[in-house]
Amino acid sequence: MSDRNSPIGVLDSGIGGFSVVRQVQRLLPEENILYFGDGAHVPYGNHPEETIVALSRYMFDFMEQRRVKVLLVGCNTISCVIDRCADLVSCPIFNAVQAGVDGALEKNGGKVGVISTVFTHNCGIYPQRILAQSPQGRTVCSRGCPNLAGLVEHNLGSGDGMVQVEEELRRELGDLVEDEQIQCCVLGCTHYSLVSDSIQKLFPQLALVDPAQEMARALKDYLQGNNLVTDRTEKGQVSIYTTGDVKEYTLRAKQTGLERVDQVSAYPPLEI
Ligand code: DGL
Repeated sequence: MSDRNSPIGVLDSGIGGFSVVRQVQRLLPEENILYFGDGAHVPYGNHPEETIVALSRYMFDFMEQRRVKVLLVGCNTISCVIDRCADLVSCPIFNAVQAGVDGALEKNGGKVGVISTVFTHNCGIYPQRILAQSPQGRTVCSRGCPNLAGLVEHNLGSGDGMVQVEEELRRELGDLVEDEQIQCCVLGCTHYSLVSDSIQKLFPQLALVDPAQEMARALKDYLQGNNLVTDRTEKGQVSIYTTGDVKEYTLRAKQTGLERVDQVSAYPPLEI
């Protein structure tokens, strides 16, 4: 059984969920966090659904075995298949897509852009959910970006690499901003939140919706409302497990501003 002092679980295909951890640390600094990033199989967004489900179930199982008190699915792509994984965990689940939809609904009127992985785009989940809850006349332009998450995963902090990331951002977002005239853009892949400064630099007028921020806010409300905030008074720590490269994850944790990382450990990947 988990209790109020059990860790909060955060999972993602890679480092994208660090954007969620960062926000949770900001709002709930005493909480311990357990992170799983499937670096061996990132990016998920170009895999077929059955593969994404198998890989996601492996991570859900990991979290259930460690008795997390709540699970944050810090990955929009996995959020699309959550109904096929939720049976594995006994704790409440928060997901990035719902957070992104809630954030978009808070923006007033106008055209909403969504950039995401190809899988999330093909699911149509953002347009469906935003339009279902919006007054008539709202338009959603969704764009699937095949290369962006992988580029972010492996290029953060590298000068040349970030030039490539920015070129890709310009290619994917340029016409949404200039031709479609979107007024806000949902970062429908948590990797993109890690380069929100670059997006803002390229498109300074564009209002961004960051599901990572929304998730942390919703989590705080939930924990407070259900007496599940930890009663420890010292600051919490983050334990990271990855099926990818431990050194790369250690570096990325630092680059993305995670605090109090007590360990980064290797975990065997699911064979697919
Ligand atoms: N960070 C993930 C998301 O939010 C996906 C990136 C990927 O693995 O393709 O969708």
